[in-house]
Amino acid sequence: MKDLRALLEDLEARGEIAHVTREVSPEYELQSVAKAIHEKTGKAVLFEHVKGSEYPVVSYALNSRETVCRALQMKPEKMAQQWSEREAGHGTVVRVENAPVQEVVENEVDLEKLPLCLHCDGNNGRYITGGVLIARHPVHGDLNASFNRCQLAGKDKLRVRMMPPQHLGQFHHAAEELGQPLPLAIVIGASPAVMFSAASKIPFGRDELEFAGTLGREDVEVVKCKTIDVDVPANAELVIEGYVLPDVREEEGPFGEFTDSYVPVMKNHVFHATCVTHRKGAFWHDIWAGGKEDIKLLGLPIESEIYNHISKFANPDDILDIECMRECGVVGCPADSCRQVKEIAHYVCNRNGGDGAVREFIEFLLEY
Ligand SMILES: Cc1cc2nc3c(=O)[nH]c(=O)nc-3n(C[C@H](O)[C@H](O)[C@H](O)COP(=O)(O)O)c2cc1C
Repeated sequence: MKDLRALLEDLEARGEIAHVTREVSPEYELQSVAKAIHEKTGKAVLFEHVKGSEYPVVSYALNSRETVCRALQMKPEKMAQQWSEREAGHGTVVRVENAPVQEVVENEVDLEKLPLCLHCDGNNGRYITGGVLIARHPVHGDLNASFNRCQLAGKDKLRVRMMPPQHLGQFHHAAEELGQPLPLAIVIGASPAVMFSAASKIPFGRDELEFAGTLGREDVEVVKCKTIDVDVPANAELVIEGYVLPDVREEEGPFGEFTDSYVPVMKNHVFHATCVTHRKGAFWHDIWAGGKEDIKLLGLPIESEIYNHISKFANPDDILDIECMRECGVVGCPADSCRQVKEIAHYVCNRNGGDGAVREFIEFLLEY
């Protein structure tokens, strides 16, 4: 699916999107209503009227694994294997001159008019949670895309967490070494392939828009931003252009994360917006950290990492399927494949240092 609109049309045709027609507040209410509807019906949720903003907001757009399969043109079985095969390919990125995402150009930036949401009590203010951040490396020129939360800090100011070893953090570090600001575009409502590419940890130096092309089996059309030298998906809904300042850090957080706990206040980066461009009638995308949509975005790339790891020593036909939900993977293996299960468990445990629940799971398996 080439853009978020194609996804919304698909959901509409299947009756898989609930419309909330009354006005909702972006503070607490939108998130609570979205969660309640999604958990009861499994549907995506479209808020047609959000207080203080002209933009409709979609939440849980990636409402189910089946929707993700349709969006990425995958079969529902063995998605990790399909991902891995596509990863070995090469996508095509086409630069265009006229793009839907630049139908409206706003040089007078007012981020407070955008429907950034406040999700829970402990969060320090309103955040962009569904933004794909795209930057160009100041030396190599490669483009990187990743999801990073952004806290609203003024009409043209955001605070962003983007630390090395994350690639965006490395890009900023390189710019800072040169004493330069890092040009950065925050993309709302990119295609599902771009979203999954941004959520995945592909090797440093591989262009994540090219990767989105091979992942979604569709060329990715991009357009150059109006005020910075960064390319963004031409069919996205909205783009905030600007710079991450060098040598400036401010307190950001706390923020309720997918771990079901708050990350504390930290000194994080400061973004200065220079321009907003958008489609006519643009949709905003809000993602609740730890909600089922977030877990799908985080989980599928990890499934492919696990698949790549165990297929180094196991016959791919023996790997029945892999599905990651939160920290642990549920894995189907033939009954005699204890070694594979242990390998997966070790891999998952070591991937991020592991946490208590993962360690318990590993110990259980190793004793088995
Ligand atoms: C919805 C969503 C929000 C995320 N927010 C953050 C964030 O605020 N900070 C962060 O460091 N990683 C965040 N991540 C994880 C990164 O986007 C992810 O690890 C990505 O692969 C990093 O990109 P890189 O491989 O280019 O470094 C988020 C992921 C998702 C799906």
